[in-house]
Amino acid sequence: MNPLASELNEQLAQHSPHVLEMLSDLGKNLFFPKGILTQSAEAKDKAHKFNATIGIATENGGPMFLKCIQDKLPAFEPKDIYPYAPPAGKPELRSLWREKMLRENPSLQGKHFSTPIVTNALTHGLSIVADMFMDEGDHVISPDMMWGNYNLTFGVRCKAIVKKYPTFTVAGGLDVDAFKAVLKNTAKEKGKAVVLLNFPNNPSGYTPTVAEGDAIVTAIKEVAEEGCNVVAVTDDAYFGLFFEDTMTESLYGKLANMHPRVLAVKLDGATKEEYVWGFRTGFITFADGNDYENEPVITALEKKALGIIRATISNCPHPSQTFVLEALRSPQFLEQKEQKFQIMKGRALKVKEVLKNEKFANAWDFYPFNSGYFMCLKLKTVDAEKLRVHLLDKYGVGTISIGKTDLRIAFSCIAEQNIAELFDLIYQAVQDLS
Ligand SMILES: Cc1ncc(COP(=O)(O)O)c(C=O)c1O
Repeated sequence: MNPLASELNEQLAQHSPHVLEMLSDLGKNLFFPKGILTQSAEAKDKAHKFNATIGIATENGGPMFLKCIQDKLPAFEPKDIYPYAPPAGKPELRSLWREKMLRENPSLQGKHFSTPIVTNALTHGLSIVADMFMDEGDHVISPDMMWGNYNLTFGVRCKAIVKKYPTFTVAGGLDVDAFKAVLKNTAKEKGKAVVLLNFPNNPSGYTPTVAEGDAIVTAIKEVAEEGCNVVAVTDDAYFGLFFEDTMTESLYGKLANMHPRVLAVKLDGATKEEYVWGFRTGFITFADGNDYENEPVITALEKKALGIIRATISNCPHPSQTFVLEALRSPQFLEQKEQKFQIMKGRALKVKEVLKNEKFANAWDFYPFNSGYFMCLKLKTVDAEKLRVHLLDKYGVGTISIGKTDLRIAFSCIAEQNIAELFDLIYQAVQDLS
């Protein structure tokens, strides 16, 4: 093992041994090298005469660039677009995102947590979690309605086992008892669990009530008290899009600093929240389980995360970090976000209204939804994949089939005035096949 990795592990052993236990083999071996990047950073401060360290090309005191590119980006300074961004991301963006996190999650007030590290959006954050914490055979716990890509990230890449619990009770609430049962089994069998908490949920569009959220947190605390190490990961991809009476904060606020055996990891980002999917800008933020400032633990986790970023993508794109930073600084940001929120909410509520039509009752039920981008129908009479293909071929309507019975509708992509027609067409297609 590299001595720098040993040093970080020693730091963890001394200040939070349970976090060290949570790391995968790869996680234990990770470190951030004192290589080119560290030497370049030193030179940036001190090399007043010539700086021959950095692996970019310079000209006229700034980065070299092509005019045909810069001509399209006149609002931006070349220095904010072309050079590599620091491996942890632009410092101003990281601190503004932290402020935003605190503003939107009052339960984080007074808690200790790291400055967010920039990721290549949430998918990358999930893969960092997988690399740092998952070994072959480890359990990752998720509701059965989950983003299918978790299978690739955790199952295929790390050979972890995705343990699913039924998302909903028959009465239509989150099945917290089922979650508890799976968590307890994993605790008994493995002594370690990675718990994925994705709310608003893809594909169901569900966010728990405050009571359901509290029950999840309590269940995690209980197994921790019984000796299980838990990496509690909030996938807050659709954060903020809460349309009804639900939690309006990430569970991260309550999980942070809750118990020495619980490491809270928050994954969030601009991709869905600020409608900039292709920018690929997200964040990973750590909060250990101790209720005091545990700097050595946070530093060790950050260095390991930076190590895997350096090993895989080196650093995240600079232009999109600049674009998001400018948006966060803009005086119009909050007002424009609110406008888009109202559009999304209008669509969600319209779907609810349309679905009240009794004629649909023989074709489908629908799962509870109150947030995010999606909702799911539960089909009663036809196979979901057959319906999907028929809808495409005959009506030019695109949907996503999940398993035999579920059809996911992204209402985020359908204008409010078209929603009634969309469901009429789906209903017609069901009739065609019945
Ligand atoms: C639950 C969930 N997490 C993560 C992602 C990935 O988001 P990003 O585009 O930021 O990588 C998605 C995207 O579809 C998602 O639905």
